[in-house]
Amino acid sequence: MSLLTELEIQHPIFLAPMAGVSTPELAAEVSNQGGLGALGLGASSVNAARKQILQTKALTQNSFQVNFFCHQSQNIDETIATAWVEQFSKVFQKFGKTPPKKLNCIYPSFKDNDDFLNLVLETRPKAVSFHFGIPHTHQIQALKNAGILTMVSATNLAEAKAIEAAGIDIIIAQGIEAGGHRGIFNEQFDAAIKTTDLVQLIQSHCYIPVVAAGGIMNGQQAKHMLKLGANAVQLGTAFVQCKTSNAHETYRQALFNQSITQITSSISGRPARGLINHWHINIDTPHRLTVPVYPYTYDLAKQLHSVASEHGNLGYGAFWAGSNVAQIRKLEAADLINQIVLEMNSIEV
Ligand SMILES: Cc1cc2nc3c(=O)[nH]c(=O)nc-3n(C[C@H](O)[C@H](O)[C@H](O)COP(=O)(O)O)c2cc1C
Repeated sequence: MSLLTELEIQHPIFLAPMAGVSTPELAAEVSNQGGLGALGLGASSVNAARKQILQTKALTQNSFQVNFFCHQSQNIDETIATAWVEQFSKVFQKFGKTPPKKLNCIYPSFKDNDDFLNLVLETRPKAVSFHFGIPHTHQIQALKNAGILTMVSATNLAEAKAIEAAGIDIIIAQGIEAGGHRGIFNEQFDAAIKTTDLVQLIQSHCYIPVVAAGGIMNGQQAKHMLKLGANAVQLGTAFVQCKTSNAHETYRQALFNQSITQITSSISGRPARGLINHWHINIDTPHRLTVPVYPYTYDLAKQLHSVASEHGNLGYGAFWAGSNVAQIRKLEAADLINQIVLEMNSIEV
């Protein structure tokens, strides 16, 4: 059975799940236009996630997917955390606030307990995807038993093979160009393979469907990925500017005014690609302190962004974006899908 038939969608175009940016409206708009809508629920509580899923269901009868983080939880090293917080104490003071006394694990992993699994089983979206790793065997089995399709991001061949061996249905091949967090299982090592090469590599070694993600902004690029063997494409950055996304106005403007992105671990504790700002310029120096583990580091970044933005300073936000952000277009989600489909079907001259 083809991937489109399995997912019951019309076009091989997936909206990337984007925690903090995706909304039920954006997901539904993409699904109603024949693509696969998505909710990034990795940063949500179970109740907030339930609300988003139910809202999406109310807005579309079509298939959509939900996404969770599947990182290996780690204990924070308090010495590293204290030194990390200390280096920001003057910045917090500048904004009239005291730095946090302690960094918290703000995003639990899907693997830590079965609360999110039970929510998925209760609400039954068409598919569920995972970033940073593979769920436990009992979790995969429960999803399979419920007829829910599973997808996991891979950034190299070893991860892709592990995903296939675990019985997952679909591989999301995330190239180095991708905006947002690298899906790498081990944050210490990154093969940094570009999307076109990764798609071909995984497609030639694995049997399950492959979805290309990273740097795809238009139909020509999407078509190229399909030609290389991808069964579908997944776009994130291209949709951040859509009216129904949750992106802040400053983020939207930056997407059109800035064209350089870089990967940093300084914001969350895991490498992620975003528009260059304070974090890349002033923190990622050769003298950078050891970063506390994910997601504790993110706790500080979010607090700092919150106090800085109260003073009109938006230089501490996390403006995730892919390396092809300069190709972004100001279109609504439905129009963007239509335009991509048109470009995919256009005859090459
Ligand atoms: C703002 C933003 C947030 C993201 N959040 C998530 C997320 O919550 N879960 C996830 O699996 N991927 C996330 N990603 C990565 C996307 O799934 C995808 O790999 C990426 O957007 C593809 O590259 P592109 O941005 O160049 O299209 C995010 C990407 C962006 C741009």
